Amino acid sequence: DNSLPLDMTIFGGMGDLAMRKLLPALYMAFLHGNLPPSTRILSTGRQDYDRAAYLAFVEEHSRSFISAANFNEKSWAGFLDLLVYVRLDVSNAELFDTLRDASRDGAQRVFYLATAPSLFTTICDKLAATGLVDANARVVLEKPLGRDLASAVEINEAVGKHFAESQIYRIDHYLGKETVQNLMVLRFGNSILEPLWRAPNIASVQITVAEEVGVGSRAGFYDSAGAMRDMVQNHLMQLLCIVAMEPPTSLSPDAVRDEKLKVIRSLRRMTLADIARDTVRGQYSRGVSGNQEVKGYHEESNVPADSHTETFVALRAHIDTWRWSKVPFYLRTGKRMARRSSKIVIEFANPPFPLFPETPGGVANRLVIELQPEEAIKLQLFAKQPGSGMLMQQVALNLDLQSAFQQRRAEAYERLLIDVVRGRLTHFMRRDELEAAWEWVEPIINGWETLNEKPHPYAAGSWGPAESFALLARDGFGWVE
Ligand code: BG6
Repeated sequence: DNSLPLDMTIFGGMGDLAMRKLLPALYMAFLHGNLPPSTRILSTGRQDYDRAAYLAFVEEHSRSFISAANFNEKSWAGFLDLLVYVRLDVSNAELFDTLRDASRDGAQRVFYLATAPSLFTTICDKLAATGLVDANARVVLEKPLGRDLASAVEINEAVGKHFAESQIYRIDHYLGKETVQNLMVLRFGNSILEPLWRAPNIASVQITVAEEVGVGSRAGFYDSAGAMRDMVQNHLMQLLCIVAMEPPTSLSPDAVRDEKLKVIRSLRRMTLADIARDTVRGQYSRGVSGNQEVKGYHEESNVPADSHTETFVALRAHIDTWRWSKVPFYLRTGKRMARRSSKIVIEFANPPFPLFPETPGGVANRLVIELQPEEAIKLQLFAKQPGSGMLMQQVALNLDLQSAFQQRRAEAYERLLIDVVRGRLTHFMRRDELEAAWEWVEPIINGWETLNEKPHPYAAGSWGPAESFALLARDGFGWVE
């Protein structure tokens, strides 16, 4: 019920995610009138802060993540009025009483779990024991949701004891990106692409999520996760689902998630031989990024000197369905790559008969969907080079969505938080979807261990190890930069 007052509790309310993403997103939602009139944001933390000390902390750690263009003193002050600090140590049941005392009866309760996932069970048990979980309550689960299938199942079981599936919002913030949501419109709001969107018209699909940043201060978490768990299991697989799914019958949460689940379940399981041949792990070494010399992964703080954690993954996947039979899907992600760039490349089959003289590097048609940093859609075609011969040259039909729409684009977290408040589940992961993703990913991670597969070094600021290029070259393709 959207007319209810909202009590949103953020567990891990003093943490990095809350400061960098959640509070700025909630501020923007507030600024644009997208929070219910009587909203309170309860941030939990272990320290014994009074209100003034808490607000000072928010000023210091969160405010700078709101762009100056959106910042306005008056609305910021209004936003700070919504914030309540609740001292709460998750391991201390008594302290949940302070949360109960701070919660209003009859409010729409949202619990955002932005803590380590190892705390999710305890938090949910205690919330329930304190009587805070009513039929209206919603819980938001931040990633990582486990580190393998067993731990994901365990979390899902524990949360599911107190919350129905329709009350659980599993966040993958890529699903909140404007550009990712637009992929659905591109595919299913237009009719010209769909007939071509299948084998054998499509020769291959590439999905790249390249980051320029390194591991930063997150090695404590990252070193035990690696790029496969941190990025592929969730963000890249979600992108793959949207590219590969059948048209859903509606935009209802289950209609969309049923189709995504089918894609994940159709991914061909990799054998050890497949893993050895079709996956590449990499780890960045010293290099130059953004004109600066940067450290190698091993030199970052909190990374063990003998760490074999991958900061880069490239792989070739197959979706065993009628639509995608024999079409390779190449996925790639890494930290400390040449620049921040996320894109999807649909490479269409070449004309069956070469009528015109061969063109170097000649691929007739590619649809390039750039997701980050700027949104653009490009269709590559061949055109005749002016002149007396019949030489062809690649040209692009460019759609720059930045200039096509002047409106402000909300950040992923802002859009997703508004969805939570309004009870819209479509852009969140369902339990079976998440578990199916682990079922596909986990054997690959285990396979690397069995094969004793060490990551290949690549220089920071490059596009990853040579083996990643070889993976595509073998099939006659190449990564599109
Ligand atoms: C997070 C990962 O989920 O996504 C980070 O944990 C990564 O390691 C981030 O940097 C990338 O998100 P974005 O929105 O910057 O592409």
